[in-house]
Amino acid sequence: MPTAQSILKHLGIQETNYGACAGGDWLHEAEGEVLVSVNPTTNLPLARVIQATPAGYDAVVRRAQVTFLEWRERPAPKRGEFIRDLGTVLREYKEPLGDLVSLEMGKIRAEGHGEVQEMIDICDFAVGLSRQLYGLTMHSERPDHRMYEQWHPLGVIGVITAFNFPVAVWSWNAIIAAVCGDTVVWKPSPLVPLCAIAVQHLCNRVAADHNALGVFNLVIGPNESIGEAMLADTRLPLISFTGSTAVGRHVAQRVGERLGRALLELGGNNAIIVHEDADLDLAVRAITFAALGTAGQRCTTTRRLIVHRNVKAALLERLIRAYAQARERMGDPLAEGTLIGPLAAPRYVEAFLAAVAQAKAEGGKVLFGGKTRPELGPNFVEPTIIEMPWQTPIVRKETFAPILYVVEYDTLERAIALNNEVPQGLSSAIFTNSLRASERFLSAAGSDCGIANVNIGTSGAEIGGAFGGEKDTGGGRESGSDAWKNYMRRQTCTINFGTALPLAQGIRFE
Ligand code: SIN
Repeated sequence: MPTAQSILKHLGIQETNYGACAGGDWLHEAEGEVLVSVNPTTNLPLARVIQATPAGYDAVVRRAQVTFLEWRERPAPKRGEFIRDLGTVLREYKEPLGDLVSLEMGKIRAEGHGEVQEMIDICDFAVGLSRQLYGLTMHSERPDHRMYEQWHPLGVIGVITAFNFPVAVWSWNAIIAAVCGDTVVWKPSPLVPLCAIAVQHLCNRVAADHNALGVFNLVIGPNESIGEAMLADTRLPLISFTGSTAVGRHVAQRVGERLGRALLELGGNNAIIVHEDADLDLAVRAITFAALGTAGQRCTTTRRLIVHRNVKAALLERLIRAYAQARERMGDPLAEGTLIGPLAAPRYVEAFLAAVAQAKAEGGKVLFGGKTRPELGPNFVEPTIIEMPWQTPIVRKETFAPILYVVEYDTLERAIALNNEVPQGLSSAIFTNSLRASERFLSAAGSDCGIANVNIGTSGAEIGGAFGGEKDTGGGRESGSDAWKNYMRRQTCTINFGTALPLAQGIRFE
């Protein structure tokens, strides 16, 4: 089984002692607080990282500002060349970097490698984007006038990421921001510092060849000091934050106070509706991956199963069989054949147990699982299915664990209402063979989520679409489509190529 040492060696990384990197230089700040990276499979330490001090943070932002002044003037397709080469290096190191994600976060190897594939995909997307970044032209109401809008780089972007996607979510933001002409300061989750350090090393290697050191910068540090400093820092015009709704609310307030922009990707409470005409085999496979992938710790994890009462018994019987097979394949996430790894830290095990207890107290009936698996390690919990009488308070809450709440319905309208009756609005799906049902679900009166799928699960988004959701999910959109506009400033330009000075709206001011 790979160890942290063997993986880092494979990545060609000698040293992971310091958690701040500015312009390719690691800041050797001996007085920063020590952060211990822990293997969630065993709760044993993997490495110690000296975190950034406020002075170190300041140095990182200053370096990112200086680089921005040059980078914003580099033609966008040239910026794309840096990203193209970064994509090549990520292809080369996909295996060890994916293994590191798996080791430090606890997701299974296939999903760790999948994260790196997402980084590669977003690099490809961004290279194409670097020759686009289109603005519109408009017809002016005035003779001999031309109007158009153009997009300029925004500045130094603060990217704060969560533990569940240690590398991919950074890339959704940072790679797009880089081709837009921005520079980036990344604060990763304190649960996964090694992944961030490894990515920074790879970026530095490629950046050195493109005179682009300082485009990507890193600052590992405590939320209370470094995180708060980022929120208040007017040098960062945009903070992209991925995390809980509670913290996201705080981020929005702090960044809003200084009239900065906040791009929020917060909690999800995603449902799959299984309609009476659904292909149940397809549904079972999709639910199993969407509810149990990353041990239920994706923002897009399926947490609610809204099932038509005519197919409930048949679906649950098959689903329980699939869960029983998945339970047999729990274990070390790096081991061949493992399907479910540990939760990321002991506090998530506590949250799992508290949620199961609350669900029972609210009338829930545990159909499968509900317990911990200490024989596998300290953070393993069973894949769990709980049938609920209605969408009680615990069902409306996001718990980062593999718990699937089951609620039944009898009409499609009721199913859609149940889908929408939670505070969060990230992802949703329906399984049906009916065009009418699927179109109703996708209509303006259908799902209120940022992502709405038909006959696939709620998780596993492709990078080409805009990712994010409504309500308590925060409203942000990252990754593909036109999410790049978040990282640029729009400028409307009007040019008079005549000799008169007509005013808009026909105003005369002689
Ligand atoms: C996430 O949960 O943030 C990742 C989305 C996905 O599953 O594709």
